[in-house]
Amino acid sequence: MSTITDSVAPQTPPTRTPKVPGLPLIGNVLGMAKDPAQFFVDCYRKYGPVFRVNILGNNYTTIAGVEAANFMGTREGRECLRSKEFWEGLVAEYGATRSLTGEDGESHKSLRDVMKRGYSKESIKGRYNELVELTDRAFVRDWPVGKMVPVVEAMQYMVVDQLGTILTGVAPLEYVKDIRVTILHILNVLVTRQRPKFLLKFPRYKKAKARVQELGAKMIADYYRTAGQKKDEDKNLIDDVMEAHQNHPEIMPASDLILTLTGPYVAGLDTVANTTAAIVYAVLKHPEVLARIHQEVDVLFASGTIEEDELFKKIPSLQGAIMETMRLYPIAVAQMRTATRDFMFQGHLIPKDELLYVGTSVPHFMEEYYPEPTRFDIDRFQKPRAEHLQPGAYSPYGRGPHTCLGKSLAEVQIALSMARLFYKLDLALEPADYTLKTKTAPTPGPAMDFKVRVRGYRH
Ligand code: HEM
Repeated sequence: MSTITDSVAPQTPPTRTPKVPGLPLIGNVLGMAKDPAQFFVDCYRKYGPVFRVNILGNNYTTIAGVEAANFMGTREGRECLRSKEFWEGLVAEYGATRSLTGEDGESHKSLRDVMKRGYSKESIKGRYNELVELTDRAFVRDWPVGKMVPVVEAMQYMVVDQLGTILTGVAPLEYVKDIRVTILHILNVLVTRQRPKFLLKFPRYKKAKARVQELGAKMIADYYRTAGQKKDEDKNLIDDVMEAHQNHPEIMPASDLILTLTGPYVAGLDTVANTTAAIVYAVLKHPEVLARIHQEVDVLFASGTIEEDELFKKIPSLQGAIMETMRLYPIAVAQMRTATRDFMFQGHLIPKDELLYVGTSVPHFMEEYYPEPTRFDIDRFQKPRAEHLQPGAYSPYGRGPHTCLGKSLAEVQIALSMARLFYKLDLALEPADYTLKTKTAPTPGPAMDFKVRVRGYRH
């Protein structure tokens, strides 16, 4: 028999969990596809922190709001939620035994320990100026003066160049398209299950996946070519993963190497590209914010080099704009989990093996935490307001044991890239009152046809 635990002790029998009405066969897929963040907020307002949705015949219980965000970080949350089911399709597709994202408990901890250093801010220490050079290189390559540039795509190239160089030592730009196609299919079909399985049989996907595997195999071969020649402080994620494979094959078997080594692209490409594209839109849409950012970045880059410890102190407006964009355009609207056992949440019984959405982004849109929640207000994060510090109110990088491992690295990557972009380029929305179109699959963010005009170079 399973144990029933509760974050709020049950005084009465469990409340019946309301079901969100939907259409036959497809359920709530239309509402979710249109605007998933708003869909969860509307349901939360109507039904409270626990409700059931149906997506293409699959039932999911959703737990949402600050209640759910806070629950994920508790011991009970860690024990009652697991990630396995949502990632096992990806793991099988690579012929692997497991992935960091799909493990929980001790095996998750040991994998996370292997990758912690490689994914951390440490990996970028002393390399801020190099990151700036990579960003400048992207401008010359993908942001021609006078042209309308597709922002998400240009950002994808920039991100692969940066992550590849910083985390793995190589910038596999010739693989960007393959990585994109592979991620798109895997996330849509196998992880979020918003698209049918037959898509994985198409030659376009098969070719792209084979190329990503080729990239992984190259990374392994490169490692063996240079193994033993690196000083400890020069080692990167690849070195750490390969050493774990050699010393602890029970943690990192050969079958898991390619999935693990190409992981930074899966984890970083779409997340950072969508987020940075949304930042470009939000800032250009608010000229008063752009003017404040210009002032900051002109000072930041005036001396030609970056004082790493000073970065965030020098760009409070840009940092506010980044955080505000991540509040309003979260790329992870909800996390997907399975109940490991029966448990009570907010008076509702969540049965063992139930598939769950955890709607951590719901508070982002609630006036209870963010007055005038639709307003792009870059000062709401500054003390004394610090609206994001209210418990459970701000979760752009997720919550609990799977909280983004690349968070502190991503924060530097995004801040520096955006600082450099607004310093260097004179960009404009066209028409000036352009309103962003968004996409929802696989990662919510600006539509691929969002373009900006490069009017020239500011510096
Ligand atoms: C805008 C930037 C990013 C956002 C918003 C973001 C968001 C997230 C979120 C919400 C999760 C948790 C998913 C879950 O709980 O199911 C996650 C996990 C993860 N992220 Fe990020 N991410 C970003 C960038 C990056 C980058 C640049 C990297 C590294 C290259 C990275 C590496 C990871 C890894 C390895 C995990 C898995 C952690 C685990 O399962 O223990 N992320 N990210």
